[in-house]
Amino acid sequence: MTTPLTPDDPAAATTPARAHHSARAHSFNAAAAQYAANRPSYPPALFDALEELTGRPLKGARVVDVGAGTGLATARLHERGADVIAVEPGAGMATEFRRTLPGVPVVRGNGDALPLAGHRADLLTYAQAWHWTDPALAVPEALRVLRPGGALALWWNTDAHDVPWIAESARRVDRHFAHLNLSAEKRDFDARFADPTGTLGFVHREVRWSRRVPLDTHLANLGSHSVFLTDTEERAAAFFAEERRHLLAAFPTGRVEETYDVHLLVARTPET
Ligand SMILES: C[S@@+](CC[C@H](N)C(=O)[O-])C[C@H]1O[C@@H](n2cnc3c(N)ncnc32)[C@H](O)[C@@H]1O
Repeated sequence: MTTPLTPDDPAAATTPARAHHSARAHSFNAAAAQYAANRPSYPPALFDALEELTGRPLKGARVVDVGAGTGLATARLHERGADVIAVEPGAGMATEFRRTLPGVPVVRGNGDALPLAGHRADLLTYAQAWHWTDPALAVPEALRVLRPGGALALWWNTDAHDVPWIAESARRVDRHFAHLNLSAEKRDFDARFADPTGTLGFVHREVRWSRRVPLDTHLANLGSHSVFLTDTEERAAAFFAEERRHLLAAFPTGRVEETYDVHLLVARTPET
């Protein structure tokens, strides 16, 4: 597990590990259009599970989507009738968000210090973003912003490693980044990871889904992950040339079937 850190200016980080973590948290801003065009969204079944576990419909709910990025999750919440405000620290991601979802408000800020009044939100969501926060700060901030009887929901699209080609590709990525020891940062997606303080009682749900995309989309999706965005251009180009060869052998038609398990964690706050 990584030590979650705040996304301060990388230049101000005090250790090489903090600087690297911070650079990765910021890395999406330079690749926001690539991110928006190629990253997977989230399946309807995830939002059904979210409604079941929070015990309320999304329609009409006051939702704050934190680390909203380009708005992939925000768009789904908005379509379901939620009254959503997005929070995003990065300038590049927020610009892309405003381009794709001009009717949804987005404010600059991060999960460790939410720029919002207390006790108003029914639901706080973090799609693929909680791991960039410092839970020692983000948990109390979530509790401050949520109304009594509200809920905090965290989720991640994770690669389904029981699918052989996905496991092989993941091993190639691990080898490419052997110097970073990525296996040490694999997350358990359990309550201990999300809230080391143990304040919140998370319920865990897994939702499997898949999508078929052109190989170029798959490679650009992979390339929009922070490890590649902070790799050198030469190393990344060499990796992707090789990866394209491997995947064309597995998918001669040039269409790739990506399979994901969405890990959803939901914690409800006390009614009083
Ligand atoms: C992997 S992207 C997820 C974006 C979007 N939620 C989605 O589902 O596609 C991670 C996002 O978290 C943002 N982020 C970085 N540090 C953060 C923090 N401390 N609190 C909240 N969001 C943060 C990044 O700027 C980026 O937009």
